[in-house]
Amino acid sequence: MSDKYPESSGRRRFVKGVVGSAGVAGIGTAGVASIDMVTNQSGSGGGQTTYFGVENTGGPAPRAMPMVPIEIDDEGYLRGVYPEIQEVEQQGQTVEVAREDLGGITYATDWFQYCGIQDYQGLQPSYDGDNYFRYAGGASSYDWQPSSGQVHVDDFSDYDTWENDYGEGAIGKPASVTWRSQDTDNSIPVQVIRSTLLEDAVANADGEVGDWLDAATTDGFMAFLNKCTHYCCVPGYRTSNYEGAGDKIYCACHQSVYDPYSIVKRSFTAYPRPEDG
Ligand code: FES
Repeated sequence: MSDKYPESSGRRRFVKGVVGSAGVAGIGTAGVASIDMVTNQSGSGGGQTTYFGVENTGGPAPRAMPMVPIEIDDEGYLRGVYPEIQEVEQQGQTVEVAREDLGGITYATDWFQYCGIQDYQGLQPSYDGDNYFRYAGGASSYDWQPSSGQVHVDDFSDYDTWENDYGEGAIGKPASVTWRSQDTDNSIPVQVIRSTLLEDAVANADGEVGDWLDAATTDGFMAFLNKCTHYCCVPGYRTSNYEGAGDKIYCACHQSVYDPYSIVKRSFTAYPRPEDG
């Protein structure tokens, strides 16, 4: 089998490091299996992918979690932008890819190619539901939020005063939602935040990050794929006071921390990769 991960890949180094560690053996094994599964796929696409996401600032997570651009419709309902579907030639075949220019940035479903999400029905161009966010029930939901139904701007009208037991102030109101997950086997977990800090970040950012924030956020709302880039757990914003993570996104599995107000440009090698050599 060819070498699947370049030496520069932090992911490979971590996989090597955790295998055999009793403390995380169960989760580590699952993660390795999942990586093998996606790596073994053949097909088009993949390669070096550049994206914008919420920065990983602590713990073992190897990179930022990718953002999902937001739109608000005329009635005030929020939805995530799915890239335009295009037909392109790849390796002599015509294939459909979801990719578009957003604020001068190439936004593509390649951004979400990790943790097996690339195989979820909702991420395929053929998915026949809509792009609206819907409240998620279950363990990741917040006390304030409904357990189902579409997400509306009015639900966040108290975003500049909302507080819970975590963090230090009224800086942002979150919701756990799903995206493109109606009648599918796997839900795509997304976190939505409306925040005054994001409004400040949008006002002050320049360059590519500024262009991206202008295109991908609106009225202080942002969204990101809520899958930890370490071993695929579902983190939460303002869900723990662990070592300063109260105002940030915290992954309880191995204490990774992400900062939703630090949007960064990152690259990774998306799957499936082109044939080696
Ligand atoms: S820190 Fe390990 S899965 Fe999130």
